[in-house]
Amino acid sequence: MGNRMTFVTEEEGINVFLKSKEVNFELAVQNPVYRTASIPKNTFLALHEKLYIMMKGKIGTFNLYQFTGQLTEELHEQLENLGTHGTMELNHLVSNFSSAILWHVEHNLSRGDFGRQMSQDKAEEGLRRPHSCSGAFWQWNLLYPVTMNMLFKKGLFPRNEGKIREFYQHFQAYDEGFEYGSQMPECLLRNWSKSKKWLLALFEKNIPDIKTYKSAKDNSMTLMQTMLDIVEMERKEEKSPNYGLLLLWASLSNAVPVAFWTLAFVLSHPSIHKTIMEGVSSVFGTAGKDKMKVSEDDLKKLPLIKWCILEAIRLRAPGIITRKVLKPVKILNYTVPSGDLLMLSPFWLHRNPEYFPEPELFKPERWKKANLEKHAFLDWFMAFGSGKYQCPGRWFALLEIQICIILILYKYDCSLLDPLPKQSFLHLVGVQQPEGQCRIEFKQRK
Ligand code: HEM
Repeated sequence: MGNRMTFVTEEEGINVFLKSKEVNFELAVQNPVYRTASIPKNTFLALHEKLYIMMKGKIGTFNLYQFTGQLTEELHEQLENLGTHGTMELNHLVSNFSSAILWHVEHNLSRGDFGRQMSQDKAEEGLRRPHSCSGAFWQWNLLYPVTMNMLFKKGLFPRNEGKIREFYQHFQAYDEGFEYGSQMPECLLRNWSKSKKWLLALFEKNIPDIKTYKSAKDNSMTLMQTMLDIVEMERKEEKSPNYGLLLLWASLSNAVPVAFWTLAFVLSHPSIHKTIMEGVSSVFGTAGKDKMKVSEDDLKKLPLIKWCILEAIRLRAPGIITRKVLKPVKILNYTVPSGDLLMLSPFWLHRNPEYFPEPELFKPERWKKANLEKHAFLDWFMAFGSGKYQCPGRWFALLEIQICIILILYKYDCSLLDPLPKQSFLHLVGVQQPEGQCRIEFKQRK
């Protein structure tokens, strides 16, 4: 306890955060990593750089497009379960949706509300309710199974209804409480701790299968398999489940709400929605061709979708990123002592009109200026962090969300039944969650 935090808000402070050799990423996140995934300091510091370099290579720009085919197939597979038409919470559509069976939730229970308005016990009670195929408020699966099948092992996401519910409930509870768990002793967070242990046990049980898994298509190893190799090489295999948990959280906790916000922004801006639909039709033809393929070239012909994703991320960016001060640093007239945490808010930075004119407006066209072909974002865009340890999953996340949006819009006419929800200000860590309901109506395109 008792961290001192200094928030940098002016250019000089931001430059220190981004460039000074006296501020350090690893030591800033080590303690939260220990609390949330029980990875001790020495293990974390011994493995971090190796794992980071591996991830950057494996899911970075060089290898990225090898995922396009499999991502498209996985998304098609999941979307098949959606049926021809319906209404549901948009959040449930993008987060997780699978074999037509998940539990339904009440009208006002969106993901953001989940942890806050219901205790875990109450949630469990909700989960025991009988299922019904009618009614709009089902929990669906899309990015959860797709991400897990791609990055861990095909089939890791449970198929059985009860198991899906159990998994979903524990992941939600873990994600909701992550920020508290990263700061407080676990014994004070009984339900969160229960879910953390459940997820660790899930990995413990599945690690032998993940290790021996062979892709039916090629010999490539999944990200988790390569991670396990490194963890074993360093003789830290007893911590393998802990790394599984960390990767699970990192790969889902931001990408899912970003998919939500992108669709919500697009559907609530009719002219942008119309332009996107014209683009999708011109690239993929009229709707109805099931299981169309998506290529790298196709994606290049649809830049507006990528701009919309980036603009959604800009507007709902993580509340903070953090670095530890190793030696005193001078910012303006202040000396920030060693041991302090330097905090930078991408969310706040993205609202500076000098960097982003009309910052509160959803203006995907501002991304025209970014050299995305060369993998450069706009200056001052910091949603993926910055510097040596910038998010290694950023290009994978963008690709996954791009294909997800294309397939949903290609297959279905979609409209929102509620206004764009407000963002919840409950969390500083990670992208912002929606507050309140936002229902989507979808109908198969003919
Ligand atoms: C839109 C979605 C995403 C956002 C906004 C996001 C954002 C971030 C941010 C802000 C950081 C901290 C960087 C820093 O402090 O400089 C980070 C780290 C990380 N992200 Fe992401 N992320 C996203 C998706 C993903 C995905 C899909 C993966 C995995 C496939 C991933 C894996 C990671 C990992 C492993 C780290 C820790 C890096 C390290 O320890 O050095 N992220 N992410």
